[in-house]
Amino acid sequence: MEENVLEAKELSSDSFETNIRPQSLSEYVGQEEITSNLKVFIEASKIRNESLDHVLLYGPPGLGKTTLAHIIANELGVNIKTASGPSIEKSGDLAAVLSTLEPGDVLFIDEIHRMPKFIEEILYPAMEDFEMDLVLNSDGKSRNIKIDLPPFTLVGATTRAGDISSPLRDRFGIISKLQYYSLEELKVIVLRTSRVLEMPIEEDAARLIAGRCRKTPRIANRLFKRVRDFALVNHSDKITLELCNSSLAKLKVDEYGLDSIDIEYLTSLITKFNGGPVGVETIATSIGEEVSTIEDVVEPFLLQEGFIKRTPRGRVAEEKAYAHLKISHNGTLF
Ligand SMILES: Nc1ncnc2c1ncn2[C@@H]1O[C@H](COP(=O)(O)OP(=O)(O)OP(=O)(O)O)[C@@H](O)[C@H]1O
Ligand SMILES: [Mg+2]
Repeated sequence: MEENVLEAKELSSDSFETNIRPQSLSEYVGQEEITSNLKVFIEASKIRNESLDHVLLYGPPGLGKTTLAHIIANELGVNIKTASGPSIEKSGDLAAVLSTLEPGDVLFIDEIHRMPKFIEEILYPAMEDFEMDLVLNSDGKSRNIKIDLPPFTLVGATTRAGDISSPLRDRFGIISKLQYYSLEELKVIVLRTSRVLEMPIEEDAARLIAGRCRKTPRIANRLFKRVRDFALVNHSDKITLELCNSSLAKLKVDEYGLDSIDIEYLTSLITKFNGGPVGVETIATSIGEEVSTIEDVVEPFLLQEGFIKRTPRGRVAEEKAYAHLKISHNGTLF
């Protein structure tokens, strides 16, 4: 299947991204409120010689949750063990990962909102008292055993904060919402990637990529790598503004950085529902997407950029959406 360069979710072609992932808080660009607070909490936990409080990171894909989880472990100087919500199916799966933890370690659970409910309940005492209750079944008999765990820090990541039950959410001492990045921050990220990958880029070209990446570092890095391919093939030893412009045009990168789901959403809202107001469930059905994807991945960016607005009666397309899709209010192209 063709991979969409502008898609915010992780693509298989992103997998060799590890070397451009920042490793420390000082290399992590933006999200200043989160990082400056984390710095304090990490420092304090070191002074007290205790594990850091549990951390919940939430926000749209590609904004740096996984990156931050690894940085937290690096800054604490501890190991990180990773798991993902849907992969923990049995209590034994959770026990297996918890049993590998050493004092102070970070346990990173990605997509924590997709963890089965009964696993969540086993996690509560583990988070609160560093204890785990297990029911062992043998010879038709079952008995309860209590296992002591070393103090550890759970870092949970999710794009769906609303799907996390409140008892679970309440057990996180630090809850941080990641924000979309500014143009300036994205430019810094692109320039940093250019240094790491040893392919120079002109400042204007870096700004161009920064403006076309859906305000998302993952997409900025992906665009940089694709443009770099054009530079290599052109025997160019740096990425100029001109080369960047023509490469982005060949990649069919939207000038606002909208991806194909964004475009489908807006097209459907305007052409099938007359620009709204229409309920999110109806739009989701019309384009064959999950309501959760629409609400957590697609809409936050479209709202922030003024393509749509939310009203009590449903979603409404804004002028900017009509202009961008070149559709007039009576549905004809202009
Ligand atoms: N603050 C940042 N500074 C520099 N680079 C960043 C930053 N945040 C993210 N990146 C880059 O963007 C890529 C994607 O980030 P990451 O994988 O952490 O996103 P995520 O929020 O975990 O996404 P998902 O919800 O899909 O799991 C990283 O590999 C990294 O290169
Ligand atoms: Mg991630």
